Amino acid sequence: MRHQKDWFKELVVYQIYPRSFKDGNGDGVGDLKGMIQKLDYLKELGINAVWMSPVYASPNVDNGYDISDYYQIMDEFGTMEDWEAFRDGAHERGIAIIMDLVLNHSSDLHHWFQESKKSKDNPYSDYYIWRDPSEDGKEPNEWQSVFGGSAWEYVPERGQYYLHFFAKQQPDLNWDNEEAREKIFDIIRFWNEKGVDGYRIDAISYLDKGLDGRANMEELFGTASCANLEGTHRYIQEMVRKTIAPDHLMTVGEVIVNSTRDAWNYTSASRGEFDMAIPFIPPIVEIETWSPENLKKTITETYEATKEDGWWARFFSNHDKPRQVSLYGNDSTCWKESAKMLASFLHTLPGTPFVYQGEELGMTNIKLPSIEDYDDIDTKNYYRTMIEEGASEEEALRASQNISRDNARTPMQWDASANGGFTEGTPWLSVNPNYVDINAEQQMKDEDSIFRFYQKLIGLRKEHPVLVYGDFRMLTEEEGKLIAFTRSLDGETWAAIHNFSAEECRFGHEALAGEKTVMLSNYGRTGLDGDSICLKPYETIVFSVK
Ligand code: NOJ
Repeated sequence: MRHQKDWFKELVVYQIYPRSFKDGNGDGVGDLKGMIQKLDYLKELGINAVWMSPVYASPNVDNGYDISDYYQIMDEFGTMEDWEAFRDGAHERGIAIIMDLVLNHSSDLHHWFQESKKSKDNPYSDYYIWRDPSEDGKEPNEWQSVFGGSAWEYVPERGQYYLHFFAKQQPDLNWDNEEAREKIFDIIRFWNEKGVDGYRIDAISYLDKGLDGRANMEELFGTASCANLEGTHRYIQEMVRKTIAPDHLMTVGEVIVNSTRDAWNYTSASRGEFDMAIPFIPPIVEIETWSPENLKKTITETYEATKEDGWWARFFSNHDKPRQVSLYGNDSTCWKESAKMLASFLHTLPGTPFVYQGEELGMTNIKLPSIEDYDDIDTKNYYRTMIEEGASEEEALRASQNISRDNARTPMQWDASANGGFTEGTPWLSVNPNYVDINAEQQMKDEDSIFRFYQKLIGLRKEHPVLVYGDFRMLTEEEGKLIAFTRSLDGETWAAIHNFSAEECRFGHEALAGEKTVMLSNYGRTGLDGDSICLKPYETIVFSVK
């Protein structure tokens, strides 16, 4: 099964967060025109798919993840013609288009919800999840939303509460309603016809809420226990059968993975759900519990669970996480080395690599001076909750700076001109002042840059199927900051060794005996002697062994 060739396995996906990528009309907000201007940049990087975060009409309470019209492009981002021009430009360059589908919830301004909230007996009344108040007039249960606070909101017109797992402006759609499901499937068919190549499907583990008592409150936060219920899988299978399979599109489901079994359930080819899973709370990158030791354990476990049948998206970064070099690497003394090492790690693992915009330049976290400077709804709620729980303003700000999704949302740093060349207007979110030193123009001129390193890595995956289809064997023990593994295919073996620390570490293993040819190094190594290697801080070496 593992060696079965599939085009989605050969992709390197680049995630664009349109609001922050490139402003084409000077209003301070990234847009489709800006994306078109940068297609040659993407081509030069070598990626072969773009996942764009939502570009549909939205009031932007959660930056496009609250959709008010699935058939329209957001005004700030341009027009349907602009979208089509981007699609055509991408396709001409061999880049597939992956759209973001947000189907667990809509915006409260979507006309379905506007109708639904009016009464209990209008045509859309059952498109969302409505419940009567509990006996004491309070919320139907104690569920908390992912963004904090109750997951229920009261609407006096109906005398009922509706469910929202995210912001209260993001009411959850009722997938138990067959008519609503068909309307949702029509949206997918519309975009299929527009020539989309695949979908990243948002927060899809929550379709079946288990409100009849099947979900419980004991795990993590309320919503996690509602994830992955039987009905969710049933609805996904129906959606894929009716809308995705007939057009042979690729899918990556953003799912909750509470166990490795969950990963298999979502991605086994035999189950007809997704091609690959991209975990919402990634088992490999929990901010609080992250360590190279945990990473090793989860990489091995997830590989074992899906090696015969199943597939993973590999990523450290997206628009919901702090910047990878700041979190898992070292953005001061070993900035370049650690950014390259993290890239090498992700591209040599089994699975499809996902690169988040700016990662290929080693963009870093930002510390905005006041909570007012942040835009992200999750950061603002987090700050407010900390203050309510007794934290000082300084403590709450420091904690918010560390976790904020805005770390990843600061505009792309294209060059050293004003605003990093992102906009000629006033950027909607501050540009990181380090754009003067960290920017695309400068890195494209420098053969030793992080950008050039990504280019080489992506090229290696295209030229050497062993990196895509090769069997995986972890060589390092659970203890220690080194992660070393081999990939083997048809008699060819490659080794990849990554030092996740600022200390030198020595490594040797019988699997490395033989003649070694260095394929990639972040310290300019061209050869390797002996079977034991002393790795420098954040060093990565990829080599073949004969
Ligand atoms: C996951 C998305 O990645 C995130 O940005 C969004 O806030 C939630 N889903 C809700 O749609």
